[in-house]
Amino acid sequence: MSNLDIAIVGEINLDLILYGLPEPMPTERELLATGFTITLGSSSAILAHNLAALGSRVGFITKVGDDSFGTLAMERLCERGVDLTRVAHGAKSGVTLILPHGPQRHILTYPGTISELRFEDLDLDYLASARHFHMSSLFLQRELLPHVPELFRRMKSAGLTTSLDTNDDPDDRWGEVLDEILPHVDILLPNEREAMKMSRAGDLETALSRLSQKVETVVVKMGASGASAVREARRFTAPAVPVTVIDPIGAGDSFDAGFLHQFLRGADLTTCLAYGNLCGAFSVTACGGTEAFRDAARMQEFLRQHDAISALTPPAS
Ligand SMILES: Nc1ncnc2c1ncn2[C@@H]1O[C@H](COP(=O)(O)OP(=O)(O)OP(=O)(O)O)[C@@H](O)[C@H]1O
Ligand SMILES: [Mg+2]
Repeated sequence: MSNLDIAIVGEINLDLILYGLPEPMPTERELLATGFTITLGSSSAILAHNLAALGSRVGFITKVGDDSFGTLAMERLCERGVDLTRVAHGAKSGVTLILPHGPQRHILTYPGTISELRFEDLDLDYLASARHFHMSSLFLQRELLPHVPELFRRMKSAGLTTSLDTNDDPDDRWGEVLDEILPHVDILLPNEREAMKMSRAGDLETALSRLSQKVETVVVKMGASGASAVREARRFTAPAVPVTVIDPIGAGDSFDAGFLHQFLRGADLTTCLAYGNLCGAFSVTACGGTEAFRDAARMQEFLRQHDAISALTPPAS
């Protein structure tokens, strides 16, 4: 038996971020960036990293490429103490190239092992030994996707609570597999656009009303406007924490980390939302999705500055 708070199944890859490139980008020209970061990317791995940085005990099953990008990505999770004992191995790591141009960005992904994780790769007893089960980036899991309803069903029947952040569907289909998964999800964590897409609603209120008929707690992330949630027909909202934005990459995953960290400690929904906003805001103060959380002293200082919340939950040192 493990002593995991949360087991996460999902993808891992590095993000290569080139800042300051012009848009549009002509071909056959040498275009010079003004900044470059190579950092742990991928929604699932960012969540695993930041949850562990906050002090949750995290187990992560993913498929990693047997190459130097895969090794570096794993090192970043190892540094935070994420349990990687059940990780599967594949040939070639995926990678994401991000080119921010002001508020707009190009995002180019080679999937590699990201989409190769299979149901047979999962140690179900290990997953079921955690208290909570989570998946991110549902639609990138091409091999696993048909088995995801069964996976969630098994986790629920083993007594775990569950959560899902679908992120975007690159095919923009939001197919019926989601209808099979949602009855086994306790907490759904979309952003506004995703909430409307998956419920086929034209506005957020209709989306919330439709989704909350299927899922006990629906949490919608709204960027600089904070977050909103519906549980048992009650609406909760929490404002964003004002910060100077360096890089919005990974804000949603960092929100999930803050929210779930509090949920796992038994906090009420208001506290979960506030802590989600706090961690989302902290993430945007540095490059990529995990760089802010790698600096434990800075993280503790940021959380302390907002001590109405952090007094409840001293972060792990
Ligand atoms: N400019 C900002 N200022 C303060 N907080 C922010 C800002 N942008 C995002 N956040 C925080 O991060 C949370 C998640 O951001 P967002 O709504 O962009 O999620 P997302 O679209 O899922 O992001 P991602 O692209 O990482 O998947 C917000 O609910 C908010 O708490
Ligand atoms: Mg997101």
